[in-house]
Amino acid sequence: MAVTVYRGDIAYAENEKTLRTAEASYLVVEDGFVKNIFPQLPEEYGELPVTDFGRGLIIPAFSDLHIHASQYVQRGTGMDKLLFDWLNDCTFPQEARFADMEYARRVYDALVRDLIRNGTFHASIFTTVHYEASDYLFRLLDRKGLYAYTGKVNMDVNSPDFLREETEESLRSTERFLAEHGDSPTVKPMLTPRFAPTCSEKLLKGLGKLAKKYACGVQTHLVESIAEVKWTLELFPQYRCDAEIYEKCGLLDGGQSIFAHVIFPSEEDLSILRKAGSIAVHCPDATANVTAGIMPAAALSKRELPIALGTDIGAGAEAAVYRQVSRAVQLSKLKEFFEPEGNGRLSFAQAFYMATKAGGSVFDRVGSLEPGYRFNALVLDGLEDDVGPMAPADRLERFCYAGDDRNIIARFLDGKPLEAE
Ligand code: GUN
Ligand code: FE
Repeated sequence: MAVTVYRGDIAYAENEKTLRTAEASYLVVEDGFVKNIFPQLPEEYGELPVTDFGRGLIIPAFSDLHIHASQYVQRGTGMDKLLFDWLNDCTFPQEARFADMEYARRVYDALVRDLIRNGTFHASIFTTVHYEASDYLFRLLDRKGLYAYTGKVNMDVNSPDFLREETEESLRSTERFLAEHGDSPTVKPMLTPRFAPTCSEKLLKGLGKLAKKYACGVQTHLVESIAEVKWTLELFPQYRCDAEIYEKCGLLDGGQSIFAHVIFPSEEDLSILRKAGSIAVHCPDATANVTAGIMPAAALSKRELPIALGTDIGAGAEAAVYRQVSRAVQLSKLKEFFEPEGNGRLSFAQAFYMATKAGGSVFDRVGSLEPGYRFNALVLDGLEDDVGPMAPADRLERFCYAGDDRNIIARFLDGKPLEAE
């Protein structure tokens, strides 16, 4: 058995209320999994070399459950538009370029580099409608050993001609994607209908059959803006709410469902998501940039809806999901300020939990440093002023508000050091 010992300060969120911290402690890793954390090193490990990070802070690697890999090159542009104009004017023309593999390789290489640099080792990722480019991203994530879901996007209606797929062809290439990507230990294919307005009912029902046949989950956008909710219900008048479309078309039967945004859910939406064991993804920057509304994250989590965080690149402008931790707290305070009834706000611990253990829950034992979790971890440094030491929790909070990848001095994936490029 391979055993390694690290010494340093430690912080991780055990649940939405509890941020565990320890100072000058020993973290023992056995075969890539956390064995335990000890204030003193037990005798049985006494012979082993210790990697000492001093006042370095060991934390779990991050989980970003909503990224559009193809929109990486759009980040920080077109940000004064609202959702539909941003999609039509900026996003769709840009996504069409992924028919060109040279372009796709460059963008996807850069995104994955940026994710690793920023400590996101667990992610749920959209590509575009293009098979080859989507295949390239899948293989790249697999080669890097990152924990991920990804799938090629489906869109067969209400889409520009240069992106719109024929229904049967969309189903065929999705089935091929599922059939040819079942072999990675860490990356899983996922159904990725863009959102209800760009999918016909026939397409969604076809995807529902694939969900069952391949025991496959689904990721999509749900009730992201008032205009989107209204349009969806006009297009699907026979359904009571957005979530019911996915439920009735069989898309929630195959595996994990991941719904981005969930800003304007009805009671029916919520009960369907809870019943399906879905997770909602709060993307604070994206919300502020291209949509109108703030996810009632504090209220929804009180109502037993699991919530993770996402950058939603490129509606969100940076790959650092830890920045979304601070933004989630900020937006929850604005939400409470403008709508004091029934909202409440997020604590830092709760938002950090969302970006680590909650998001990690859709993968296998990632997102925490409790015994039995994979040692997928980062070491943070350089967060203290030279006027005196700061507690681990304060350093972690400062990192999420004011830190960047320069504060990440080491990265571990499955217990092995991971070099950022
Ligand atoms: N709804 C449909 N497509 C998209 C997208 O690419 N980004 C966001 N934020 N919302 C969407
Ligand atoms: Fe999105």
